[in-house]
Amino acid sequence: MAKMVFVSTDGTVRKEVEADLGMTVLEIAHLNGIDIEGACEGCMACSTCHVIVEPDYYERLEAPSEDEIDMLDLASGLTKTSRLGCQIEITAEIDGLTVQLPAQTRNMLLT
Ligand code: FES
Repeated sequence: MAKMVFVSTDGTVRKEVEADLGMTVLEIAHLNGIDIEGACEGCMACSTCHVIVEPDYYERLEAPSEDEIDMLDLASGLTKTSRLGCQIEITAEIDGLTVQLPAQTRNMLLT
């Protein structure tokens, strides 16, 4: 198990959850009622799973693939630490991974 933290768009709500190693950020979000759409369900055919990774963790992630970079270019509110949530798998090395929901998604954490 590992921990993950989702932060609301405005930074005022932080939700800490537990996840099995190997799950993607998108899967973890859906399991925990976090409002990340993920329209293509991880096929890298959309950018609705866009998340902003806290810089400390961003440095520790594997580099994004060309396909992910291309898809991220279509995401609104892109930042230097943006990634697709369906492409980040939780591992022990990034235990505590913290991501923020971008401004252009609906900015609510469901509880
Ligand atoms: Fe579509 Fe991640 S869910 S690219």
